Amino acid sequence: MQEYLEKFDAIVKQQLKRVENMKQDGDFLDYQSLDKIIIGVVGGDGIGPAITAQAKRVLEYLLADQVKSGKVEFRVIEGCTIENRAAEGKAIPEKVLEELKKCHVILKGPTTTPRKGDKWSNVESANVAMRKELDLFANVRPVKVPQLGIDWTFFRENTECMYALGSQGVNIGEDIAFDFRVITTPGAQRIARLAFDYARANGKNRVTIVTKANVVKATDGKFLEECKKVALEYPEIQVDDWYIDIMTAKLVDEKRRGQFQVMILPNLYGDILTDEAAEFQGGVGTAGSANLGKRYSMFEAIHGSAPRMVEEGRAIYADPSSVIRAGAMLLSHIGYQEQADKLSRALEICAAEKKCVMTGRPDGATGEAYADYIMQTVQSLGSSFVG
Ligand code: IPM
Ligand code: MG
Repeated sequence: MQEYLEKFDAIVKQQLKRVENMKQDGDFLDYQSLDKIIIGVVGGDGIGPAITAQAKRVLEYLLADQVKSGKVEFRVIEGCTIENRAAEGKAIPEKVLEELKKCHVILKGPTTTPRKGDKWSNVESANVAMRKELDLFANVRPVKVPQLGIDWTFFRENTECMYALGSQGVNIGEDIAFDFRVITTPGAQRIARLAFDYARANGKNRVTIVTKANVVKATDGKFLEECKKVALEYPEIQVDDWYIDIMTAKLVDEKRRGQFQVMILPNLYGDILTDEAAEFQGGVGTAGSANLGKRYSMFEAIHGSAPRMVEEGRAIYADPSSVIRAGAMLLSHIGYQEQADKLSRALEICAAEKKCVMTGRPDGATGEAYADYIMQTVQSLGSSFVG
């Protein structure tokens, strides 16, 4: 028994320290005030290096002037592979983490997450570790399907809930397993504030808080209460709260779903609901995702690493669209809105025109040809383009 109590004691101390750190946190980094913005490019596993290389080419094209003047630097960070992570027994290899911390913003390809019984040692997911190590507390996932009247932006808390201690649960004897769920006051407040600020800045008049506070009383109760406190600072915005089960149902309710605009969720509910939401748009493979923190930000494709494509020699045919879409979010985040708008528009045009089609196989285009097509489309938009 003593052994478990000591473990719990250590967990509580570690989380109290995290709370203290959050309380000391300053403002978001102002990228444009930096002498140089360093963009780290992490290939990851499977098709990751192939598709991120294409996304890098596209971003370098859009930021050619800034690269030339030294305002922006691209840095490829090698080694965040499952082989290295498994060998070191670490979610992120030490050297990779060191390099990441020298960047301001990161573009990341998919990384393989081992699960119990895999050939890899059961290290924590590199995504989850990166979010925690770099304190990327907000996972912002937009889903837009104009023809269905859907325009949602999810603000998924990204460092707490079941994820904070997901690899620190305990097995007690043969018959019991415990995991721990953590919600903190500053953790809930900072995601809520970001969501309300976004709503205010983008003319959204409704924010929906999603929990299961009727059953999970301490943690979800706190999350809901803190979000509601923050809401008081935004009197012009209508606030409602829903339970995750009925919220999941309402996303498929044709009469109701168009009314939702901005949603705030604890980590695990956000993970699940955003996969459901992305399905309306064509699946998780079509979505990009922003992981934002005060000091660092990371942008990623949210599909998997497709190791089979690599085994079959098809990595060059992997579709780079979603990581390029993540690149557009990155451009917007660091202050290059015009370039971001152009890239988003070019992605839409290329997907609709189908002049160059990818099939994932040699009968379709390569990722390189598709990236060329995107860059040509950007160029054809000209310098007078207004997004
Ligand atoms: C996501 C993914 C990750 C998560 C996995 C890969 C650990 O599902 O980004 O939504 O659960 O957060
Ligand atoms: Mg997920």
